[in-house]
This record gives sequence, structure tokens and C-alpha cells, in this order.
Amino acid sequence: MRTTVGIIGAGPAGLLLARLLHQAGIASVVLESRDRAYVERRQRAGILEQGTVDVLRAAGAGARMDREGLPHDGIELRFARRRHRVDFPALTGGRSVTVYAQTEVCKDLIALQLAEGGPLLFEAEALAVEGAGTESPRVRFRHEGREGRENVLECDYVVGCDGFWGVARTAVPREVSRVFERGYPYAWLGILADVPPSHDELVYARHDRGFALLSMRSPSVTRAYLQVPDGTDADDWADDEIWDELDRRLETDDPQWTLRRGPVTAKSVTPMRSYVHEPMRHGRLFLAGDAAHIVPPTGAKGLNLAVGDVVTLARALILLRDKGDPGALDAYSDTCLRRVWQAERFSYAMTTLLHRAPDATSFDDRIQLAGLDRLTTARSAETDLAEAYTGFPLDEQD
Ligand code: FAD
Ligand code: DHB
Repeated sequence: MRTTVGIIGAGPAGLLLARLLHQAGIASVVLESRDRAYVERRQRAGILEQGTVDVLRAAGAGARMDREGLPHDGIELRFARRRHRVDFPALTGGRSVTVYAQTEVCKDLIALQLAEGGPLLFEAEALAVEGAGTESPRVRFRHEGREGRENVLECDYVVGCDGFWGVARTAVPREVSRVFERGYPYAWLGILADVPPSHDELVYARHDRGFALLSMRSPSVTRAYLQVPDGTDADDWADDEIWDELDRRLETDDPQWTLRRGPVTAKSVTPMRSYVHEPMRHGRLFLAGDAAHIVPPTGAKGLNLAVGDVVTLARALILLRDKGDPGALDAYSDTCLRRVWQAERFSYAMTTLLHRAPDATSFDDRIQLAGLDRLTTARSAETDLAEAYTGFPLDEQD
């Protein structure tokens, strides 16, 4: 099997890249180790930056997002029993975000790819990338649909969009790889519940008992997260305990506030990590999305960063094809890493501002509260948050 761009992984990065290349008339094949139902059901991110929304629309994948996505013009910060709204458009010259689940983005892109695009093979697990440093890189893979036979995909370029646990990154020689990482002594317990959201915008709460986040998936489905100790088993938490804890951490002096409770339909624990692999390119192998970097979820940046990477890569491949100019492709890693490190910085800052470390002292508590107080009184600080949260326009960074 042969193609121009071999894409490993059908998460948001791989699917969007395949779509952007298809629109430009560049052939690709996508290999995905899981089956379609699994990819379409995996609960993950929920917040799309303005730039991500614009890209999905231009890719022809925006119709359902425009109908069902929920535009959000702000978030609430809750701390010390106070409520403070951050008004995105007012602080950023009109930018906002959209609540539209990653599952839905993937469903829309899969449907488009199967209807119009190049091959998208499910249950096709990449085993290794070979010859990344040569003119003709290859992906060895096993395809369940073909009795598990081993196949080879010959390519001009290979793109590892295979997430943090994928194989593509391992094809970068050890002497070239540099890894920067940080762990956190806590995780997120996330729930989905069949109950309308308690507030019409997201609520990020800092509390002495730990962080809490109220989000949503639709006007009738609540998504919520609680900071829990690293290593927590989701089954250790009964549904009532989760609601009680959310109630405590979201406490406020505002008598208008009440938490709506309802049946919990899904429960899972997500560990938190910051991780960057440099460079994001080796020869004709490119890394994009979680395959190259991970952020803790507090700033909702993971999915949006994956989109930024593949937009940069697609533009660079198109420039090379149309003008014979390899400049943007050569700059791919540096271009992406500038954006990636800004998101790493923001996600780290949001995480450490809002979570309570197990060894936190009363001094640390006061520093967090002072940080939040500053956000709510200094327009410059609030603008910085609003700009980073809504995302910088992709064009400004290339
Ligand atoms: P992925 O979505 O991980 O896609 C990689 C794909 O590659 C997968 O489909 C995988 O099955 C496939 N694959 C892996 N190995 C192989 C192989 N060898 N061969 C073929 N295919 C392979 N971000 C937020 O902004 N907010 C959140 O709340 C949030 N929650 C998250 C919860 C969890 C549990 C995780 C893991 C991530 C979360 N993220 C969140 C991050 C966000 O979901 C990711 O940044 C985003 O999915 C990145 O997209 P991607 O396409 O790079 O990688
Ligand atoms: C969601 C996830 C996030 O990481 C975040 O910061 C906001 C919302 C969500 O899944 O809805």
C-alpha cells in the first residue's frame, strides 16, 4: 500500500489532518488501532477555541457544530465563596469559545472522511515507523479486518497523530529526543449526568478541599470534574458523594445558587501531566497533538493544540506542493512549539492556581487567593486569562 501522507491515529489530530489534505488534493491513509465505535465514544475534551471552530467550519465539518454547539462568552471563577465572571468578548475584542464535545468533532470528521476522503482503516494498529530519516518512510501495521496480517504503508511523509501512548514518537532516535515533563499529585474525577447544567457558563472553583469544575455537554447533560488524589479509582466514589462534594466546593454567598443533581451516567479518572517532546519532526516523520505534548486539562487546551499542529502541517505541505517551498515544513517544529509552550504555561498556571496540592501550606493558600483576587481586580490579568483561554488566532502564530 502506498500514499503521500501516512497518518497514524484517528483522534482529532489525525482526522482533521486527513480532511485538510483531502481538501487540498493531497492523498493520505489513516491507520487507527481501535474500532469506530470506540473512537466515537471516548469521553474527553469539550471546549473549542474560536480558532478551532473557524478551522472546522472551513474544513466543511461545522454544520452540526453550528447547530448543536453552545457558544460561551465567559466563564465563572469561584473562590472564597465569591463568584466572578470573566467576559471573553469584552476582554479580547470579541473572541469566545464553543462547547462541543470531542466525541462529536470526531463523529463529524469520520463521517466526512468515509464519505469523501481517502482510506480510513479502523482496527489497523501501527507497529513501527521505519526509515523516518530517509526519502521513503514506511509504517508497519496490523489490520484486524485482514485476518491480522502484517502490512506496510509506504509514504512520502508519516505523521504520528497517535496520542501519548502511540508508537510514532519512539521512531525519533534517542540522541535527538528531548523530553520536558512534570507530574501532579492529583487527578480529575469526571462525570456525565442527565441533568441540565446548574449554570449557563462553566464554573472553575478553587476550594480548600480541592478544585471543582462544572461544565456541560448539552442543555440537558451536565459534565463535572472534581480534583481527587492521584491513583483514585472512580468506583470509590458513590454518586451522592460526588454531588455532595461538588456542592461543598462550589459553595458561595450568593443565595441564587443551587446545584442541580441528576443520574450519573459515566464516571472516570484522568491523571494530570505536562509533557513536551522536542523536536516535533525527525526527517520525514512529524508528530502532532498528544503524540508530541500533553497539558493538564485545566485550561482546556489539549484538543485545540492538536488542531493548531495539523493546521500548521497541512499549510506547510500545501506550500511545498504548490510553490516548491519547504520553508514552512522545515519550520514546523519551531512554529508549533512556540504555541505549545504558551499552552503549557497557561495550563500549568491555571492548574496550580486552582488545585490544592496535598502538601499545600497556609502560605500557598494565600498566594492562590491573591492570584485570584488579582484576576478579578486587574483588567490586565483578566485579559491575559481571557486571551489565552479563547486562544490566539492561528494566523498570528505562523
Ligand atoms: P488522541 O485523541 O489521543 O488520538 C490518538 C489516536 O491514535 C487514538 O484514536 C488512538 O486509538 C490511536 N492510536 C494510538 N496508538 C496507535 C497505533 N499504534 N496505531 C494506530 N492508532 C493508534 N483535553 C481538553 O481540552 N479537555 C479535557 O477535558 C480533556 N480530557 C481528557 C481526558 C483523557 C482521558 C485524555 C487522555 C485526554 C483528555 N484531554 C482533554 C486531551 C484531549 O482529549 C487530547 O489533547 C486530544 O484527544 C488530542 O488529540 P490527538 O488526536 O492528538 O490524540
Ligand atoms: C471541559 C474540560 C476542561 O478541561 C475544561 O477546562 C473545561 C471543560 C469539559 O470536558 O467540558
